[in-house]
Amino acid sequence: MLRIGVLVSGGGTNLQAIIDAIAAGKITNASIEIVISNNPGAYALTRAEQNGIEHICISPKNYADRGAFNRALLEKLEEYKLDLIVLAGCMVVLPPELIDKYQNRIINIHPALIPSFCGKGYYGLHVHEEVLKRGVKLTGATVHFVDAGTDTGPIILQKAVEVQWGDSPEILQKRVMEQAEWQIMPQAINLIANGKVEVIDGKVKIKE
Ligand code: GAR
Repeated sequence: MLRIGVLVSGGGTNLQAIIDAIAAGKITNASIEIVISNNPGAYALTRAEQNGIEHICISPKNYADRGAFNRALLEKLEEYKLDLIVLAGCMVVLPPELIDKYQNRIINIHPALIPSFCGKGYYGLHVHEEVLKRGVKLTGATVHFVDAGTDTGPIILQKAVEVQWGDSPEILQKRVMEQAEWQIMPQAINLIANGKVEVIDGKVKIKE
């Protein structure tokens, strides 16, 4: 059984997609052990509560400095003996020690087709604003392993979504979530939970 910790910051619709996929048997051999938010007001915490999942807020604002916050986060994650950490709309910079320690055991969902519209400053609605500014016809979402860079780790799954004339950032965000994020995040977790994901030379091979 893959023990998962989910890090969130906001609405938690990706968390919900994971919860629903586990309940529906679309993710097997996995359980969410803890949900951690840096933001006390994150609706994702309410979703965890409603689904009987342990949850906690660990906010940098409650610690004297970044080092103390990093240690608290790392300690909490260690306590749950996790096999996989899932960043589901997590907007905090992770402690470098965490990334070192959990190599190829942290995954992130990004709301664009990496390597487009990613890297420093590209998060949330801002990604969709930039997509619309550039006028690309296809966007999408990417699930990838997290390494020391920003959105640079091995890509696990991607799904394309059409951009339509007249889209607002909000409308596009909703389409990307519905048609891509809420599908590929659970799929990626299911693949990992069932031993189907192998990283070879910085690239992901999905085993038959
Ligand atoms: C999602 O669109 C996710 O892809 C994005 O934040 C949103 C969180 O929504 N993540 C990033 O931009 C990471 N760079 P949610 O809280 O409803 O799952």
